[in-house]
Amino acid sequence: MEKQQLQARAIVRNIGQLVSIAQAPIVGASGSLQVYTNAAIIVDNEGAISWIGPDHEIDELLACSEQQTVNIVDAYGCVVTPGFVDSHTHLVFAGDRAEEFHLRRQGMSYGELLRQGRGILTTMNATRNASQEVLLDLAVERLASVRAHGTTTVEIKTGYGLNMEVEERCLQIINSLNCNPSLPHEHIRVVPTFLGAHSVPPEYRTQRAAYVELVVEEMLPAFAEMARFCDVYCENEAFSVEECRRILTRARDLGYQLKVHADQLNPSGGSRLAAELGAVSADHLDHASDADLDAMREAGVIATLLPGCSYTLRSPYPSARRLLDHGLTVALATDYNPGTSYSENMQMMLGLAMSAMGMSLEEALTATTINGARALALQDQIGSIEVGKRCELALWSIHDYHEIGYHFGVNLIQSILVL
Ligand code: NIG
Ligand code: FE
Repeated sequence: MEKQQLQARAIVRNIGQLVSIAQAPIVGASGSLQVYTNAAIIVDNEGAISWIGPDHEIDELLACSEQQTVNIVDAYGCVVTPGFVDSHTHLVFAGDRAEEFHLRRQGMSYGELLRQGRGILTTMNATRNASQEVLLDLAVERLASVRAHGTTTVEIKTGYGLNMEVEERCLQIINSLNCNPSLPHEHIRVVPTFLGAHSVPPEYRTQRAAYVELVVEEMLPAFAEMARFCDVYCENEAFSVEECRRILTRARDLGYQLKVHADQLNPSGGSRLAAELGAVSADHLDHASDADLDAMREAGVIATLLPGCSYTLRSPYPSARRLLDHGLTVALATDYNPGTSYSENMQMMLGLAMSAMGMSLEEALTATTINGARALALQDQIGSIEVGKRCELALWSIHDYHEIGYHFGVNLIQSILVL
């Protein structure tokens, strides 16, 4: 490397194992995850990775560098991976649903609670009744914990406002959380999703067509600049395939990218619709048929699995192996929400996928990083440690990455590093 080439914002040194998840081979790295031992990373002045190589070359480089000062981050020989990319959360909400959680332990089903006007609508009431300040404070506090568990990019959906005013309020909050250095959680990349079609609110119970009309004609045009994705809950208890098709088609025309909550509780046609409309991802997929999965693969739809829901609802875990055998690209996410998955911990999702869904460590790490980025159409920027990508890292308090998924129920993340 020549002298004038060192234009670095920072150098991350003394990385015991750099688990890069690189898609192209890196010289000096090995295995399907492209693991580099005793590595260092140089980050340029724009925060992009400019060099990955052996740590011992750094001294020489610094000795002959013209740059006077450079920020050195010492990884103390620990494991470094890309930060987790959590591509599916609902973390802006007020209240909790502990009562319903315990009612379900007594045998009441999630669908039954929804039909009684509880479930999502319980959280809608609490969210509508909370002030903007309270909602923001709750979200900021949750994001601090999201980071502490190793996530550097998080998608956040609306869907607990279900009227113009509160959906807009939630979108404002979500946008204000993105890379905002004035907030105590520091930098975290936030991707906003509009999920007006989460449930029909009570004031429209007897006129659901009018609610779909409101979403299509007023909410979608009003929020097009505030949300990157439009999602729908395609389910017997929520919105039909026809209603979802109408909403998503309009959303696509307005420039949104698409996501679908698909085939979670019943085979309700959501994954087929995701394939038909070219959605970026279809999520849940518990009841997707072989033909649905084939259609998704042909259309390039990312299959996102949410093991926290099976854990919480005590429903059978969908087989990741089956999806992988269908040739699908599988992502894992938390689905962080108060009803079906009250967890911000991607390590937990990774562990559940390995113990109950048939994934290997390599597949689970891929699913929580680069495939999460694919589920957000951000794979060119994040999700792996490669030259040209953003430097968004998770530093682990372990020295061998094989401990991931094996040492469970504890937080193995030391810190995240976003440069
Ligand atoms: O992904 N299923 C729809 N949405 C969430 C649940 C939200 C809730 O129950 O509050 C999910 O599981
Ligand atoms: Fe969800």
